[in-house]
Amino acid sequence: MSGKFITFEGIDGAGKSTHVDWLAGVLRERGKTVQVTREPGGTPLGERLRDLLLNEPMRVEAETLLMFAARSEHWAERIEPALSRGEWVICDRFSDATYAYQGGGRGLEKSKLQQLEQWVFGRRQPDLTLLFDLPLEVARERIAVANRPLDRFEQERADFYQRVRQAYLERAHAHPERIRVIDANNSLDHIHKQLEQIILNNRSG
Ligand code: TMP
Repeated sequence: MSGKFITFEGIDGAGKSTHVDWLAGVLRERGKTVQVTREPGGTPLGERLRDLLLNEPMRVEAETLLMFAARSEHWAERIEPALSRGEWVICDRFSDATYAYQGGGRGLEKSKLQQLEQWVFGRRQPDLTLLFDLPLEVARERIAVANRPLDRFEQERADFYQRVRQAYLERAHAHPERIRVIDANNSLDHIHKQLEQIILNNRSG
């Protein structure tokens, strides 16, 4: 028996996190056991690494390896066991984020990321990835309105985020069977209807 593994992705400010809890609620109402988690993070060690990753200046190599160190713990300790118990796992970011941020944003070679993926979780990919996409200016505006201290990634310049967005869209194009692009500029209502349709009517339901 295996549960479903659903990941949420998008540039900072795309609003994906607000949809994570909503979707978990919908699935629970339908009798599924659902784990909600996030990356970097999801385990005690992962959360400590998150703190470093979001705040401590470091080179792209260390950044990537720490992302995968956190992911390795998360995968082995939490995600894989839950899936083997037949539970659903909803993860706020996963490996596509590394391709987008460290690969697209920072220019790290894709082949290195593929090797790390292979090492950490083999061939298993999410069953479904929801990519929340929206223009950079709208995302930046949302972050500005939130009026809180910005982490190391949120402080990056617009051209970095353009590359991250582009890398996400390219991945969606390369993996249309897994990655569904959601227009994050639509109303909450509209997005929820779309998510319900995707989750409950397709193979992942
Ligand atoms: P969050 O704000 O969605 O919780 O994510 C934290 C930041 O970490 C976000 O700016 C994206 C970044 N990140 C990467 O750069 N690479 C990764 O592999 C992951 C999972 C997140």
